Amino acid sequence: MDNNHYIDANKKAWATLAQAHYKHYQKLIANNALTLNPIVASELGDIKGKKVLHLQCNTGADTIYLAQKGAQITGVDIVEENIECAKKLAKSANVDVRFIASDILKLLKVHQEQYDLIITTDGVLGWIPDLTKWGEVVSTLLKPGGLVYIHDGHPFMLVFDEAALDQGKLNIKYPYFDLTPDEDEQIGGYASSSQKATNYYWGHSFETIFEGLLRNKLNLVYFKEHPRCVPGMGGSTKDNNGLSYYPELDGKLPLVFSLKAQKPK
Ligand SMILES: C[S@@+](CC[C@H](N)C(=O)[O-])C[C@H]1O[C@@H](n2cnc3c(N)ncnc32)[C@H](O)[C@@H]1O
Repeated sequence: MDNNHYIDANKKAWATLAQAHYKHYQKLIANNALTLNPIVASELGDIKGKKVLHLQCNTGADTIYLAQKGAQITGVDIVEENIECAKKLAKSANVDVRFIASDILKLLKVHQEQYDLIITTDGVLGWIPDLTKWGEVVSTLLKPGGLVYIHDGHPFMLVFDEAALDQGKLNIKYPYFDLTPDEDEQIGGYASSSQKATNYYWGHSFETIFEGLLRNKLNLVYFKEHPRCVPGMGGSTKDNNGLSYYPELDGKLPLVFSLKAQKPK
């Protein structure tokens, strides 16, 4: 099967969650309670006045949060329903945000502005089949000297059986070097319950992630591995700071990573 088939299935799968995510974030906005992943918040740096592109923005909660903090921001997601919800949420939050419905890999066909910062976080790269093409899109849309920031599941942890991990056991289910996508019948709603919908996920290795950057002259300037993450990205137990971990494995393995790469000046 070609990648278009997988991407179409993923688009349909994510669309099944749009309304539930919308309702979840609508309540948070009404209660003035939108927050950002605390790891991302501590690493992103000052975004005030910066021109920012947010890739795979879902229904736009983080996009809106960053607009409230002063970014001049555009969010992109493949699911039209997500983008419609994101526009309504931005209106209710009374912030000025632009949203674009597009597959990231086809974004250059509809959008060619350049940005100071491109961000993509919290369960993103595995939905993109070709990270070299992804890097080309990112590099084209960055200003010279601009940065891309990624925060995502750690490729090493993505090899393990999720159910076994919850019991502190390490069973390899998704081989590290396997280039074919994993098929799943459920799509995980991180702001809602899961839905039954076939979807495909590429558990990219670090080699593939770094190649995607370096082949497009995006030079690594920051790299960090984290032992705890936000719930929804791994872990079975929450700590006092709201971060999640596996008690039997705590501090022994990296759950998520962050990086920044820069386009030459
Ligand atoms: C786990 S969510 C990312 C979380 C998101 N950063 C947030 O702040 O809520 C993954 C998102 O990627 C989007 N997506 C999947 N494949 C995509 C693609 N090829 N191009 C653009 N967006 C895509 C999905 O629609 C979904 O909203």
